[in-house]
Amino acid sequence: GRIVSTDITWHEGGVAREQKEALLGQRGCVLWFTGLSGSGKSTVAATLEHALHKLGRATALLDGDNVRHGLNRDLGFSAADREENIRRIGEVARLFAESGVIVLVSFISPYRQDRDRARALLPPGRFIEVFMDTPLEVCEQRDPKGLYKKARAGQIKGFTGLVS
Ligand code: PPS
Repeated sequence: GRIVSTDITWHEGGVAREQKEALLGQRGCVLWFTGLSGSGKSTVAATLEHALHKLGRATALLDGDNVRHGLNRDLGFSAADREENIRRIGEVARLFAESGVIVLVSFISPYRQDRDRARALLPPGRFIEVFMDTPLEVCEQRDPKGLYKKARAGQIKGFTGLVS
């Protein structure tokens, strides 16, 4: 298991969120996109980020493929790893939101409990969940990375949305 340190103290005393928000002229929040692979969540989140940027908003984009290449490169797709994936992303989203940034988060995040934990890290109303309700058949027909095909062929186990 992981080593848990107990010799740590929580530090207060930095610039308050309200003051950071006043500087940016906006409120920090998290827009959390959830949905199947190929449901369009990354595309919509990226398009929305461009629109917000054009409106003069400070934004950050956290996306499955990118975060899994860096911060979460040690994680796979077991239930435990997906939980840890979402836990870390929730914490990163909180750091950005507490700095007054509008955070767009795009991960399958299939478990409600994990999303609720991420929501609980933020003040009420600062976490907006967006479910990309694209039917599995449509996602599978799009199959932009050919992963549904691979999963159907038995080359990927436990692909979200498919029974294996
Ligand atoms: S999760 O469930 O939130 O931890 O997943 P996420 O971090 O969003 O990563 C999903 C992307 O990883 C690729 N991939 C898989 N997805 C689902 N199940 C399995 N087994 C799997 N293996 C790899 C897939 O390309 C997902 O990309 P998106 O952008 O969602 O299409």
